[in-house]
Amino acid sequence: MSQQEQWKSKLGFILAAAGSAIGLGAIWKFPYVAGTGGGGAFFLLFLVFTFVLGMPLLLGEFIIGRRGQSDPVNTYRKLTDNPKWSLIGKLGVFTCFMLLSFYSVVGGWIILYILKIFTGAFNGLTQDQYGALFGEIIANPLTTLTAQLVFLFITILVVAKGVQKGIEVASKVMMPALLILFIGLVIRSLSLEGAMDGVEFLLVPDFSKLTSESILFALGQSFFTLSLGVSVMVTYASYLPKKQNLPQSAISIIALNIVIALLAGLAIFPGVFSFDLEPNAGPVLIFSVLPAVFNQMPFGMYFFLAFLILFLFAALTSAFSMVEIIVAAVTKNKQEKRKKTTWIVGILIFVVGIPSCLSYGVLADVKLFDKTFFDLVDFAVSNVLMPLGALLIAIFVSRKVSKDVLYEELRQGSRISQSFFSIWYFLLKYVTPIAIIVVFLDVLGLFKWIGKLFS
Ligand code: PFF
Repeated sequence: MSQQEQWKSKLGFILAAAGSAIGLGAIWKFPYVAGTGGGGAFFLLFLVFTFVLGMPLLLGEFIIGRRGQSDPVNTYRKLTDNPKWSLIGKLGVFTCFMLLSFYSVVGGWIILYILKIFTGAFNGLTQDQYGALFGEIIANPLTTLTAQLVFLFITILVVAKGVQKGIEVASKVMMPALLILFIGLVIRSLSLEGAMDGVEFLLVPDFSKLTSESILFALGQSFFTLSLGVSVMVTYASYLPKKQNLPQSAISIIALNIVIALLAGLAIFPGVFSFDLEPNAGPVLIFSVLPAVFNQMPFGMYFFLAFLILFLFAALTSAFSMVEIIVAAVTKNKQEKRKKTTWIVGILIFVVGIPSCLSYGVLADVKLFDKTFFDLVDFAVSNVLMPLGALLIAIFVSRKVSKDVLYEELRQGSRISQSFFSIWYFLLKYVTPIAIIVVFLDVLGLFKWIGKLFS
């Protein structure tokens, strides 16, 4: 008999789930993919995909999670008579394992940046020197590996404490702090000279800048930032009491996620434009452009430190969820096994993550399919495993669980109407899977291949 833990409060669950959602995706990836993908037009697309595709899937994960009241693998077994569907849960566990193996590398970089601030290393460099410093920091094998280990160590300490005492307590402190600090940071950014050019870049859509690639990125980004397709939200919802209002929770989490992505954009782009930097600098945007931006402000390094600390919080609350689902699946929610399993999982993730960590240094020239280990694992997780998981979950919820069960579960704790249910069901059954398949075909290069056939 498993002793399923439960969230202590409604807000605790919302903050923990929002904590899983808000992470590197909203703060690190969003500004640079928006920067390269057309600014405001990208943001608008991201919003559309989040509401039309992400939200139905998030609600779907919540419904089956709370219905199953079990670990991510057994939930699927419980809800159908065919045990093969539990493969979705196993796929999610594997995906989270691989995801954290490189996510923790970036988590480590944040820790190194925080430490570097205290040495004064970021004071008074030129833009190019910031880029070079970033390259130098992430190339050092010993420090990056140690930092990755520290990031995983903090994650394990919290997750080992359990859902209520660990994840919920940490999220309740970290998420409001994140929001408040971010608002302060945005006010500072917006008061810079020429800040409005950055705001315009982020908020005024120019559709001529959209490419088919940026459309696909916007879709991938909306799934990634909501932690969808890996059963994390199924697992978090399994710790919910029946009185929780699921649609309301989903909307709150999505709103928080969008607000943080917006704040991240508003913190970064005004500075980028005000100091005449390039918005499309790519993945290094935060790490090499931001120190330059902060350096030119009075008390800039304090603001940069604040930014990095909240960035670390956001990455940690996402990492908690990845470890939680693995631990829940392995222990089958048996509390007595929790501590030991969490430690073992953490150590294994570290070991598997070593090649990714070294990809920017000693292993930079080791390439598979023309990609470094880091890029290969990122690609496999973000562009193959997560969309595949999302597709399977959409199919499972809309085609394998009875409509009556879904309706009944959704109605518990909420008063949604039949028409809301019908719209949700339609989106999940048809629109979400088709959109994911289109992305998939593109990732596999099939569209280009077909195009060539006809040209
Ligand atoms: N949503 C997280 C982010 O945007 O950084 C990433 C993530 C966390 C994806 C947890 C999947 C997951 F299970």
